[in-house]
Amino acid sequence: MKTEHLKYAMSEVPRYTSYPTAAQFGDLDEPQYLQWLGELSADQPISLYVHVPFCHEMCWYCGCHTTIVAGYDRVGAYFKTLMREVELLAAALPFKAKISHLHFGGGTPTILSPEHFGAFMAQLGTHFTFLPGADLAVEMDPRTLTPEIVEALATSGINRASLGVQDFSPHVQANIHRIQPFYIVDRSVKWLRAAGINAINFDLMYGLPYQKPVDVERTVKRALSLEPDRIAMFGYAHVPWFKKHMQVISDDSLPDVFERYTEAQLAADLILQHGYQEIGFDHYAKPDDAMSIAARDGSLKRNFQGYTVDEADIMLGLGASSIGQMPQGYVQNAPKLNEWRETVEAGRLTVMRGLGVSDDDRFIRAAIEKVMTDLALDIEAHCREHDRSLDTLDEVFPKLQELQADGLVILENRQLTVIEPQGRRFLRSIAASFDRYWAPGKSKHSKAV
Ligand SMILES: C[S@@+](CC[C@H](N)C(=O)[O-])C[C@H]1O[C@@H](n2cnc3c(N)ncnc32)[C@H](O)[C@@H]1O
Ligand code: SF4
Repeated sequence: MKTEHLKYAMSEVPRYTSYPTAAQFGDLDEPQYLQWLGELSADQPISLYVHVPFCHEMCWYCGCHTTIVAGYDRVGAYFKTLMREVELLAAALPFKAKISHLHFGGGTPTILSPEHFGAFMAQLGTHFTFLPGADLAVEMDPRTLTPEIVEALATSGINRASLGVQDFSPHVQANIHRIQPFYIVDRSVKWLRAAGINAINFDLMYGLPYQKPVDVERTVKRALSLEPDRIAMFGYAHVPWFKKHMQVISDDSLPDVFERYTEAQLAADLILQHGYQEIGFDHYAKPDDAMSIAARDGSLKRNFQGYTVDEADIMLGLGASSIGQMPQGYVQNAPKLNEWRETVEAGRLTVMRGLGVSDDDRFIRAAIEKVMTDLALDIEAHCREHDRSLDTLDEVFPKLQELQADGLVILENRQLTVIEPQGRRFLRSIAASFDRYWAPGKSKHSKAV
């Protein structure tokens, strides 16, 4: 990393899985959500997100919304409430929703028993219509995966598995409280493929405590040997003020920003040498994968799950803390398990926070999404498409010119192009130039690289 890029690497910027970001959310109640649901039209495909916030052990780096449970009681109770929430959501929609994408996130969704998983999928099938070819994905922890749950996933139509891999080095695993030898991942992939779940994603991480470039290199090579279709390479977001368990990870055990950059770029180089296509700043996919095709043809999107081929404008959330995206704005369910359960059991949807989006938000959101997915933005064409005067975004030029002077972008005739590879590493900082709400230090986010 060049020293002139240090100021970007040190700054905290949003990941832009939404715009405006969740930092802008305020109070938003059920009547507002019901009104928005009532305004949706039957012909729009809908994407569903189901959050399962339980795990058996806490990984010390974990930034996800999860609770540690020893037995099954709380998971079983959660399942019952989720079943009820599906009925409430279906009843609030003026039509039977057509589902183009389904994503189970967590936590660890495969903590559900095979019977409960199957019953929940049947419940979704009763209340909604799955479109042919729908992408039905589940995040899973290889350490706790069993052939029985894999069987239940396959039987109920799941066709994509996203496995948390992180790092294969024993000393890194010890320092993140996640012991997961290679054979555990290897056998999980074999079980999944044998059951017909052939779309395999891996989550890897850099910037972990005591992780060195050589660990990243070894991890990436071993991960590639299993030929996943997609790889996400996440930079560890150390946010101990927000996630108290991260305080176990001392600051001096963490790679500095130069090392983080080296690790991210090393991983990129290795994965690209292996023939994968680079997607945005943290994803990779085989060249014939739908995500690579979307990146090439300009239809790649970004939503709360990160980079996606999901083109649905509507994502509805189920489960505590889940976030939904609608043409009118964003909504978030109650994050606290008790509150979420009591509200659903009283027959109400639990949306508590969110934000209505303005035309200007949509205009900026689309610009940020193009930068994050295409690594380029034809600013005049963008203004024309959104019925704005061609100089609407000229106010952003001083920031873009600074990025240009620092060798991250080219701005010529209102045409913005990200310079590879360094600009790709700082894509979030480039996107932040367009953000009307963000300012350095204004709200807490993770570091840009
Ligand atoms: C819900 S977990 C995946 C499924 C399962 N719970 C597991 O860990 O295997 C989602 C992914 O987020 C990533 N992640 C979690 N905490 C993170 C953090 N603090 N910074 C960056 N990525 C993180 C990890 O790569 C993890 O696999
Ligand atoms: S990384 Fe996954 S398994 Fe580990 S605590 Fe977080 S959600 Fe649970």
